[in-house]
Amino acid sequence: MTDMIDTTVPAAPGPLPVQPPAGCPFDPPAEFGALRTEEPISPISLPDGSRAWLATRYADIRAILGDTRFSSDTTVPGYPLSGMTGGGNTANRGFIRMDPPEHTRLRRMVTREFMVKRVEALRPEIQRLTDELCDAMERRAGEPVDLVEALALPVPSLVISLLLGVPYEDHDVFQRLTGKLLSRTIAEDARESARVELRDYLDALVTAKEKEPGDDILGRLITEQQRTGEITHDDVAAFAALLLVAGHETTANMIGLSALTLMRDPETAEQLRQDPSLIRGAVEELLRFHSIIRNGPRRVATADIEIGGQLIKAGEGVVVAVPSANRDETVFADPDRLDVRRANAQHHVAFGYGIHQCLGQALARVELQVVIATLLRRFPTMRPAVPVEEIPFRTDMAIYGCHSLPVTW
Ligand code: HEM
Repeated sequence: MTDMIDTTVPAAPGPLPVQPPAGCPFDPPAEFGALRTEEPISPISLPDGSRAWLATRYADIRAILGDTRFSSDTTVPGYPLSGMTGGGNTANRGFIRMDPPEHTRLRRMVTREFMVKRVEALRPEIQRLTDELCDAMERRAGEPVDLVEALALPVPSLVISLLLGVPYEDHDVFQRLTGKLLSRTIAEDARESARVELRDYLDALVTAKEKEPGDDILGRLITEQQRTGEITHDDVAAFAALLLVAGHETTANMIGLSALTLMRDPETAEQLRQDPSLIRGAVEELLRFHSIIRNGPRRVATADIEIGGQLIKAGEGVVVAVPSANRDETVFADPDRLDVRRANAQHHVAFGYGIHQCLGQALARVELQVVIATLLRRFPTMRPAVPVEEIPFRTDMAIYGCHSLPVTW
């Protein structure tokens, strides 16, 4: 398939760097630093043997993500596919993998659901859910608790289930399937069967909701858009898949990594306890510092475009290294240091940039602010229950974080 594309991307010295430096599980791959100064748009080879460009500088990355001639459409030849972007399977791919005007039309149908005002109104409910889960953790004092299972995953899963109108009792199903979809190491046939299983699950859910649409996002999509003929049953299922997958794993991993970072940095944790007004800025800095989307976003050029002095030709793929942009020393002073008082932390691109910028960012921010502040307040002595070398980091996943995080207090 690669031969069919007339690519001028030179033979790549190696694959996309994904491993954090030895002994620094929080840092992005060390190769990014050298690439930013020496070859900011550099050739890489992808697992399927095709070639693409890797962009590592902040300015270039904003230029790419802000230019709609770089397409998000996985059906455009040359798109740098990875298993998690849907592989060759492009049916019902969700508006994240579409371009305007279809992207604009579909995204508009759900924009208001995730607006700051709407999400701020959920803050008390998010606090209540967090407190309940913390109560349950407290009852287990003395035994090691897996923070991912006990808090980091349930909060965003409960919230997105509630918003969408997906029964939380089914969380085992969608968490297990999302885990498979986002794995970089799973065999392609296993990923495909997870995709089919999730599709069948959501198909049945949408069918049930068509009979009895609730006062929730999927219910409103059915009554306001599907019944007027603007979208189909399959479109509603695609909205559900995108929002469900994007809406829980991401925030869950940010919670786990943030908690671990603060446990290892008691001075910063104490500053945040003393002055809770620092929490909002701290969350922006944690988003910058961790940049959990490690392998993207990705685009394919639809025209010849020069970026940072390098010509990217129509049909060539680009992998944008968000973790590298967020550690770019020309934008963030002393970028490898976590500084919760950093004045420009909010300029990070952890939520992307341009028309595909994260739809759920206001929700993710509130969830992170509530959970981190609550953990610091209620568990001031919390610490990892195992040495950091024994924590299973998600180097095998498209979204970085910890598979589990045993803690004690
Ligand atoms: C810390 C948590 C999160 C991070 C780091 C994150 C990151 C991102 C990034 C980088 C993109 C851009 C993808 C691209 O340009 O191709 C994106 C898009 C998106 N995110 Fe998030 N996200 C988070 C939480 C959420 C949540 C809670 C939701 C809830 C529904 C969500 C829904 C979406 C959707 C629907 C898109 C596609 C937007 C579009 O294509 O127009 N995300 N996210």
